[in-house]
Amino acid sequence: MPMKKQGKTTKKSTGHPPQKSSKATAPKKKIVSTKSSAKPKEKKLQSAPSTEQATTSSSSTKVKPVALLRGMKDILPQEDMIWRTLMQTAGAITTAYNFLYTETPILEEATLFVRSIGKGTDVVDKEMYMFEDNDGTKVALRPEGTAGSARAYIGHGMQSLPQPVNIWYFGPMFRHNRPQAGRFREFHQFGCESFGVRDAAIDAELINVAYQYVADLGIATRVEINSIGTLEDRTQYTVELVSYLRTKRSYLCDLCKVRINKNPLRVLDCNEPSCQPVKGEAPQIIDWLSETSKKYFMDVLEYLDELHIPYTLNPLLVRGLDYYTDTVFEIYADQEEETAQSALAGGGRYDGLVEQLGGPATPACGFSVGLERVASVLKARTKEEPFAFSDGRTKLFFAQLGTQASKRGLALVEELRKSGLYLHHSFGKSSLKTQLELANKIGVTHTLILGQKEVLDGMIIIRDMESGIQEIVDQRKIVSEVKKLVSV
Ligand code: HAM
Repeated sequence: MPMKKQGKTTKKSTGHPPQKSSKATAPKKKIVSTKSSAKPKEKKLQSAPSTEQATTSSSSTKVKPVALLRGMKDILPQEDMIWRTLMQTAGAITTAYNFLYTETPILEEATLFVRSIGKGTDVVDKEMYMFEDNDGTKVALRPEGTAGSARAYIGHGMQSLPQPVNIWYFGPMFRHNRPQAGRFREFHQFGCESFGVRDAAIDAELINVAYQYVADLGIATRVEINSIGTLEDRTQYTVELVSYLRTKRSYLCDLCKVRINKNPLRVLDCNEPSCQPVKGEAPQIIDWLSETSKKYFMDVLEYLDELHIPYTLNPLLVRGLDYYTDTVFEIYADQEEETAQSALAGGGRYDGLVEQLGGPATPACGFSVGLERVASVLKARTKEEPFAFSDGRTKLFFAQLGTQASKRGLALVEELRKSGLYLHHSFGKSSLKTQLELANKIGVTHTLILGQKEVLDGMIIIRDMESGIQEIVDQRKIVSEVKKLVSV
C-alpha cells in the first residue's frame, strides 16, 4: 500500500507546473533527486507549455495560424450587406409565393444522396464528403438540398397535408470538387421545392420564383430549358445515344469513354473541348419524348411566355443529377460577368424521387440558386467595397463620454430600437474625437452626444455632421427628435 501511494504522488507531482505550492513541490524534489529517470521528464514538462499557455503567452512560442481548407471561404463583415440582401430577398419572395421555411441537417446518411443523385454522377462518385461517424454509420455532408427535403417530406408524413407542400431552404452545401472561379467546396444555396402536384403551372411557377429572385437582386438573366421526358422516354433515347457515342468513342475525353456505359447522359454535360463536337451531333432527347411529355413541355413554355420570362431551348441540357424527369432548367447571368459561364441556378421536375426513397408516388419540382455566384455578380457591380458599417441602415451615430453616459446611453439606444430607430455606436470608446471620426467615416448625417453634464440635466446633444451645428434636446423627446432626423 505505501508503495502504491508513493507511486501516485510521483505521477501527480511531476505533472504540476513549477509555480505550485511548496507542499506540492516537496515530494517532487525528493523524487527528482532519487530517480534519475524523473529528471528529463520534469525538464520536458517545464519547457513544453500546454496549448492554452502557448496561445495565451505573447512572448514565447509563436503558434502557426490554422489556414482555411482549400475550396472553403469565409463570409466576411464587409459582405454583410450582400448576404443580408440575399437572405431578405429569399424571405420576401418565398412569403409572396407561399413557400414555408424548412431546415434539414447538413449531415445525412450517405445512402440518401447515393440513391437520389445516383451512382455515376460526379457529385456521388467524386465529390461527396463521406465518412463513418463514431457509430460506424456512413454519413455525408449534404451536397445539395433536394434529397434531404424529399427525405423530410416522407419522414414527416407530409403527403397527408394539403398538396402541394411548398418548402424553401437557405444554407451550406458541400462538394469536394476542384475549386475554381465560382466553384467552391462549401457553398450556399437558396432553394424551393414543391411536392405533390404534377402540373405545368407548378414548373413555370418554380422557374418564375428562381428567375424573379435574381431579378429582384437587380441581375438580368436568361433561362435555358429542356425536357428529358419520363424514365421510359429516356430508356429508349439512351439506347440510341449509346450506339451513337460508341461510334465517336475515340473523340471523347477519358471520362466520357467510361460514361458511355456507366451514365451516357452525362456525356452531354461534359465541358471538355474534345467532347463538344460529339455532343453537337448527338441525337437529341426532345425527339424521343412521348406525346404526353412533349405536350407537358409545351405547356410549361406557354406559361413562361405568359410570364414574359426569356428562355432558350437547350437540347443538350440534362443536368448533373439523376433524379430529374421532364422539365430541366438553368439560369445564367445575362451579361459579360466572370460568372456568366456558370449557372446561377438550376432545377427541374423530379417525379420519381420520393417513391425511389421509399415514400408514396409523389410528383415534385424545384430549384436551387448558387448564392456565392449571385453574390459575386453583385460584388462586381458595387464599385466601392460595401463596408460593414456603411450599409445604409442608419445615418445616425450615438457618442457617449464617461461611464454614466455610457450606462444611460445604452438605455437610450434600446429605447430607440424599440421604436424602430437604429443608430451606429461604439460603446467601448471613450474619446469624443475617436467617436466623431468613426461617425464621419460611416458617413452619418447626425451624431447624438451624451456627456456627464447631459446625463445630469436629462438632455442630449444632436450634432449636424455637415454644418457642425449642435442643438440640445430633452432626452424624454429623443424618439420624436430622432424620427425627425430619419425622415429628412
Ligand atoms: P445544382 O445545379 O447542382 O442543382 O446546383 C444548383 C446551383 O448551385 C448551381 O446552379 C450553382 O449556382 C450552385 N453550385 C453548385 N455547385 C457549386 C459549387 N461547387 N460552388 C458554388 N456554387 C455551386 C442542385 O443542387 C439541385 N438540388 C437543384 C434542384 C432543386 N433541383 C430540384 N430542386
